[in-house]
Amino acid sequence: MDERATSGPEMNHSVGGVDLKQRLARGPRMDPTNLVPYLPRAKWSPGPGDQGWHAMSCQVLKESQKHTRRFPLGVRETCGQEDACGPSPIHLGVTPPRNIHLPRAEYIDWKSLLKVGVMDFITSTAILPLLCGCVGIFSLFKLLQRLRMKAYLRNAVVVITGATSGLGRECAKVFYAAGARLVLCGRNREALDELTRELAASQAAKVQTHSPYTVTFDLTDPGTIVAATAEILQCFGHVDVLINNAGVSYRGAIVDTTMDVDKRVMETNYFGPIALTKALLPSMIQRRQGHVVAISSIQGKISLPFRSAYAASKHATQAFFDCLRAEVEQCGIEVTVISPSYIHTSLSLNAVTADGSRYGVMDEKTAQGRSPVEVARDVLAAVGKRKKDVILADLLPSLAVYLRTLAPGLFFSLMASRARKERKSKTC
Ligand SMILES: NC(=O)c1ccc[n+]([C@@H]2O[C@H](COP(=O)([O-])OP(=O)(O)OC[C@H]3O[C@@H](n4cnc5c(N)ncnc54)[C@H](OP(=O)(O)O)[C@@H]3O)[C@@H](O)[C@H]2O)c1
Repeated sequence: MDERATSGPEMNHSVGGVDLKQRLARGPRMDPTNLVPYLPRAKWSPGPGDQGWHAMSCQVLKESQKHTRRFPLGVRETCGQEDACGPSPIHLGVTPPRNIHLPRAEYIDWKSLLKVGVMDFITSTAILPLLCGCVGIFSLFKLLQRLRMKAYLRNAVVVITGATSGLGRECAKVFYAAGARLVLCGRNREALDELTRELAASQAAKVQTHSPYTVTFDLTDPGTIVAATAEILQCFGHVDVLINNAGVSYRGAIVDTTMDVDKRVMETNYFGPIALTKALLPSMIQRRQGHVVAISSIQGKISLPFRSAYAASKHATQAFFDCLRAEVEQCGIEVTVISPSYIHTSLSLNAVTADGSRYGVMDEKTAQGRSPVEVARDVLAAVGKRKKDVILADLLPSLAVYLRTLAPGLFFSLMASRARKERKSKTC
């Protein structure tokens, strides 16, 4: 037996802060890799306080590092002397005993070797072709999606409400360019005629375009909605896509707002669109084909102070069209709800106030909003891809939607603080 192994109890048993005597008394750690037997106990018995034991552990560690790839778990986990093996033997100034023989063949863990081999193959040989394949499949998928989208909208009868201004007007342009047969709706005949002329003069379309058809009606008047629907169906026989875009905004405190104003906003943003949808739905169900789109708002998901009637009408819109989606899914009818954040349109200028008068102010946030052209393109994409629910907003409003669900208390405090600030700025 090596004389170092006979050291008495008065000797220092600690190496690297570990009591080796205790550790050795516990015996080797039997772990899955089972490398402990490779510690050459037969040829050299470690004694308490023996630096050689540590050195040998480190030798095994060094050997294993050479074979790290064969032993992904490492010898540190198997020799049971992790703490002692921390510093390298060079740092400790210990030379491992010469008689240590570590049979290489016994080190081979075939499962690990196979894993490493496969990983080697993937990283060195297959990674590039795999990457190219993924990019190719993705591009092909996108191309097919675009072709499908174009085919879906070409020659489709698309009804757009509120086509006289803002987002509706831009939607008319992008759907026209996509080759749709447009039915442009609004209250202002002149504005609709002007848009028709503008579309006819545009050269942007790469596909065959169709001269739009115009229909005038007021969404707050159910009688005109029914008449308009009959006119559209008589003219085209069916409707492929209905885009409920028309809407009116509102600014005011609940306490000051008359019920007439609440009703007017609800009629324009909720009852009007659902009346039009209900009027067109039977023909869609009969054909087992159709697509209903609701331009809601981020305020259909979260409510901002001093926008009560607007937020309520958009929440109702979201709820109604979510129900509709579920009910008509089996009839092959698609329903898309689009919730944009601020868009640079005349929405705030045309908003109604607490007493029913026109607000007439371009809000800072609306002025800084997204361009209606961009949003119209997103609407086209959402319809073409038959998306069900789309939020078109920056990070902050999108986060607010999740905050409302996940941390309602915090969201309500933020809204209360916003209300205080807004009230203060009005009184100043
Ligand atoms: N702008 C934004 O920041 C924003 C954000 C989120 C969602 N949205 C939504 O986007 C949609 C379009 O709004 P916009 O931003 O383009 O505003 P806009 O420029 O004011 O356009 C509103 C359109 O709705 C029509 N309309 C209003 N009341 C009507 C009624 N009673 N009957 C029939 N048509 C009526 C208007 O027609 P007239 O020309 O006849 O008034 C106009 O064409 C709205 O649903 C709005 O809620 C807008």
